[in-house]
Amino acid sequence: MATLGIDIGGSGVKGAPVDTIGGDLLAERFRVPTPQPSDVTSVVEAVAEVAAQFDDFDRVGITFPGVVVDGVTRTAANVDKSWLDAPAAQLFSDRLGKPVTVLNDADAAGAAEVAFGAGRDQRGLIMMLTFGTGIGSALFLDGVLIPNTEFGHLELDGKDAEARASDRAREAEDMSWEKWAGRVEDYLKHVEMLLSPRLFIIGGGVSKKSDKFFPLINIRTPMVPATLLNNAGIIGAAVAAEQASTGSPVQV
Ligand code: BGC
Repeated sequence: MATLGIDIGGSGVKGAPVDTIGGDLLAERFRVPTPQPSDVTSVVEAVAEVAAQFDDFDRVGITFPGVVVDGVTRTAANVDKSWLDAPAAQLFSDRLGKPVTVLNDADAAGAAEVAFGAGRDQRGLIMMLTFGTGIGSALFLDGVLIPNTEFGHLELDGKDAEARASDRAREAEDMSWEKWAGRVEDYLKHVEMLLSPRLFIIGGGVSKKSDKFFPLINIRTPMVPATLLNNAGIIGAAVAAEQASTGSPVQV
């Protein structure tokens, strides 16, 4: 039986059954728009709608765009505040009737990239950063995830970094690629100074346009675009659910 991966994003809730050994989707993914407001009850229903498209799965991994500790969602920067301290894994599990693992969206995407994508076979300290509605971060040491790092909320120019350098900020302020890349560079230099990772993997929808901004960014750390793009969250969530079923930490 398969493991289902579901990714709760700023604009869509997407899911598919996943081959967790090969890192591929086993069926075409199904997507519904993220409810607005994105309160707990509406999002649980949206997830149930996605799950109902598939049968024959025995566990589910779900990403959430905030801190998740022991299945409880602790922050809600870009979703409805009803998620603060919500017993998310329990709520999803009650609704879906299957065991559910919930983890941070960037952690899930990073786990997939490190296992099957841009970070494959890389040891040492690797950092995935997703530039989307917010900035998500995921840190790995020798393939082991250090969860819930939240480096998107470092301070940059006296503001929350994601308010200055996320892809949403680029669009909202109608920034040129040069202007936005300058902010991303400042941000990456700050992270580089704090952590000295061996590699940055840059994800989020904007990573598809890496040719527009990578050449404008001058930092010491090697930087590569994510390769699994839209499916990284789904795949990483399923891998985490599979590992939870064996009691091991997220290791790739
Ligand atoms: C949240 C993170 C999340 C990131 C990307 C941030 O605002 O605090 O938990 O990973 O957005 O969705």
